Amino acid sequence: MSLVRTATGERLSSVVLTPMPAKVDRRLFDKTRPQRIVPLAAPPAGSGLKPVPGDAGPPVIGHTLSYIRYGSAFTRARHAALGPVSWCGFVGEHVVIAAGPDATHEVLTNPDKAYSQDGWRFLVDDFFHRGLMLLDGDDHRVHRRVMQEAFTAPRIRGYVDRTVPVLREAIPSWPRGQQIRIYPMLKSLTLDVATHVFMDDRSGPESDAVNQAFMDCVQAASSIVRRDLPGTRYRAGLRGRALLERYFRAALPAKRAGHGDDLFSVLCRATTPEGEAFSDDDVVNHMIFLMMAAHDTSTITSAAAAYYLAAHLEWQERAREESLALDSMTGAPPDLAALQSLTTLDLVIKESLRLAAPVPVVMRRTVKDTALLGHHVPAGQLVMAAGATNHHDPAVWTAPDVFDPERFAEPRREDKAHRDAWIPFGGGVHKCLGMLFGSLEVTAILHELLRNHRITVAPGYRPRWDNTSLPVPADGLPLRLEPLR
Ligand code: HEM
Repeated sequence: MSLVRTATGERLSSVVLTPMPAKVDRRLFDKTRPQRIVPLAAPPAGSGLKPVPGDAGPPVIGHTLSYIRYGSAFTRARHAALGPVSWCGFVGEHVVIAAGPDATHEVLTNPDKAYSQDGWRFLVDDFFHRGLMLLDGDDHRVHRRVMQEAFTAPRIRGYVDRTVPVLREAIPSWPRGQQIRIYPMLKSLTLDVATHVFMDDRSGPESDAVNQAFMDCVQAASSIVRRDLPGTRYRAGLRGRALLERYFRAALPAKRAGHGDDLFSVLCRATTPEGEAFSDDDVVNHMIFLMMAAHDTSTITSAAAAYYLAAHLEWQERAREESLALDSMTGAPPDLAALQSLTTLDLVIKESLRLAAPVPVVMRRTVKDTALLGHHVPAGQLVMAAGATNHHDPAVWTAPDVFDPERFAEPRREDKAHRDAWIPFGGGVHKCLGMLFGSLEVTAILHELLRNHRITVAPGYRPRWDNTSLPVPADGLPLRLEPLR
């Protein structure tokens, strides 16, 4: 041990670097290996807490590029090198990485009320201002209670009934016998679903502009240049946000006056038994956030699952048998109960969410000094709860890198090994509100794909995920659709 300065300037003993564990890819480990381990901040004297070990990486940009390139493999490598609580330079700040089931559990359940959603606000507030995920404390509790009225079982049944016809119209006519980039096709499809289910508004020049505005906001939220400068993604995002506000505000009076069952109409009328309801501003802010929260995540999940089904034909056949059996049983478009009866798809989707989590990290900021697994985390600290790291934890999962949906079935139920073993939808009071609808939408998409097409992938192909914002396949994920035999 030697005396070094902390990231915040105090003098402290340095921390010894853990040797590379056998499970981590050496090339990745070498590229992301911390170079000069520095404690983040000195723990209060006599607290018995340890400092958080880590390194800043290259000036200003820190390890941002490694995260973009390697995503959850980066946080895994840091976990392996530095333990469940470490720090690194990230988007011009220092971020504490909470990795592994115990560390993420503590951050997400937030028993000490030390973690705020400012970790998200710092990144996305300009575009998703006052979206539910960006609210804290009582403000969040009240808004979540009102919004829950739009996510009751009968409401979700209604959204599913609106979703299935959109899929039935599009998916059977997707081109066969040639390579297609499935990711952009699914993205346009889920955006169509979102505009139909959430806004009851399909096609036309206005909805194209609205869709573009959403995409601009999502892209801008992860810009490295975070200023309103000409030609930047950031400026496009700010303009997108302004367009979305105008669009939703203009549609509001009719939605308030009508009796529609789309999410927009439902949010306008949602009231808790105590009479809490949303103002016009609230509805606009929530709609903009919900459109974002709903469509990228479902796109990534259905793209990843389509890839795994193509790469594991035995699972594809097993899932298709269930889909065709469902067809021959009812002949009708599937409703919520029918989709939930597709148990093989359920296992495949869970395994896809494990291996390719659409939201691999969630962001927080400490509002006071706190202790995280015996480490001192100072107030004002950006924190990343890296849930996807848990999805590869060898202490929880057998052969964690292998696609093996059966691990979610009885009697194995590996996901039960720890409360935070499998957390693609987050945890604690901010746990995803659209979890049920999102899972049903993905099931409905895959069901429609399987009953119409055989999905194949070039031998040896492996998707490469770009983690600039949520992970998306860098090449659009090339698959082929073939006629059913
Ligand atoms: C596979 C699809 C989805 C995944 C993997 C996913 C993942 C997540 C995660 C990890 C969070 C927690 C964020 C945090 O703790 O800071 C979250 C929050 C949220 N999600 Fe989802 N999501 C999905 C689909 C949806 C859909 C379809 C909707 C809406 C229809 C939705 C609405 C929300 C909302 C409103 C929140 C904020 C909850 C709160 O802060 O109280 N999500 N989602």
